[in-house]
Amino acid sequence: WRRLTYDLIVHNIGQLILPKSSDKPLKGQEMKELNISENAAIGILDGKIAWLGSNAEAGSHKATERIDAQGKVVSPGLVDPHTHLVFGGSREHELLLKQAGVPYLEILAQGGGILSTVGSTKKATEEQLLQKASFHLERMISYGVTTLEAKSGYGLDAETELKQLRVIKKLKEKYPVSVVSTFLGAHAVPPDFKGKEDEFLEEMARLFDDIKEAELAEYVDIFCETGVFTIEQSRKFLQQAKEKGFGLKIHADEIDPLGGTELAVSLGAASADHLVAASDEGIRQLCEGNTVAVLLPGTTFYLGKDHFARARKMIDDGAAVALATDFNPGSCVTENLQMIMSLAALKLKMSAEEIWNAVTVNAAHAIGKASQAGILEEGRSADFVIWDVPNYKYIPYHFGVNHAQSVYHSGEKLWE
Ligand code: NIG
Ligand code: FE
Repeated sequence: WRRLTYDLIVHNIGQLILPKSSDKPLKGQEMKELNISENAAIGILDGKIAWLGSNAEAGSHKATERIDAQGKVVSPGLVDPHTHLVFGGSREHELLLKQAGVPYLEILAQGGGILSTVGSTKKATEEQLLQKASFHLERMISYGVTTLEAKSGYGLDAETELKQLRVIKKLKEKYPVSVVSTFLGAHAVPPDFKGKEDEFLEEMARLFDDIKEAELAEYVDIFCETGVFTIEQSRKFLQQAKEKGFGLKIHADEIDPLGGTELAVSLGAASADHLVAASDEGIRQLCEGNTVAVLLPGTTFYLGKDHFARARKMIDDGAAVALATDFNPGSCVTENLQMIMSLAALKLKMSAEEIWNAVTVNAAHAIGKASQAGILEEGRSADFVIWDVPNYKYIPYHFGVNHAQSVYHSGEKLWE
């Protein structure tokens, strides 16, 4: 019993979603469990959760402002741990190529795809990129995201990569949401480096010191794929990044099973992302390590593939799975993480409990934010969403629309 005056009390919460707090990502059986508190209330003071309790108690606490959640659902703010938020231009012209059956890597080999966006990003000014990324970021917030990762990777030269990273830094200053920055200079091979991939990676690795010094990125990522960067190149590049003190991520085993999953675990990467073609051995190693498998079913869907990442096997065998949009202008053009939750239910056969853990606590672990984001407990930043739904299972079920009613970060309403 504490006679405090809270800044805000949200009461009459039908279901309060409480993913388990853990210093390690939730794995296997832990992912299948989700604590739901019925008829709950939360009290917020100075931007933090100061009290979690029952609706019955809420009336005896004083508050400057009270919100009646009308029996609806409240969850932690969603965490989107893989986005390519900053880019110039768009690629709607590629839809025709896709419809004609031209594969993703073929479009890239022809100088389109990622390289097309590289052209538009080089042309855009820093201010233009900031405006455009702000538009997309605000939309993400409107869908319930309060913490996210954003990558560079559409520059492939020092100047443009640093320009993208500066935009991400400006986004961090401009918005109250938490943004984690990743340097993805190794996203594709620029045409003038074709056949000289090692040389290109050396050039990108030369940026590590400047990026570190200017605090422009926390993570380094690489696209390990046929026709892009090999396992050996990825190992060397990520190893160098690790020695400079960066956290590691990898676009791994998306199209061909090169063994990027195993590489990620062996290097102690925070996450291995995509994993559609991850081998049994890769999945076995995920179960042993603490690397989070960040699955991106929106990308598989958007690329028109039938075969999705083996989330069931991963979870049942004991791996930690998170979900992300992979928002980008080519392979997954959506800011809507709720849509990804639906695809996870329909295509990855994940349960509602697993899905919620995958977009909160495990997603936070994938970007090193587990001590700040992804769960609701006393003392934590009050990042939460009030959902206009009758229960927590409803969101994956009713797809393609926005169920967020209002979105809060540090107790401050960002969107309604
Ligand atoms: O994660 N796979 C590589 N990179 C992105 C796609 C980027 C693009 O097509 O512009 C991805 O899917
Ligand atoms: Fe990606």
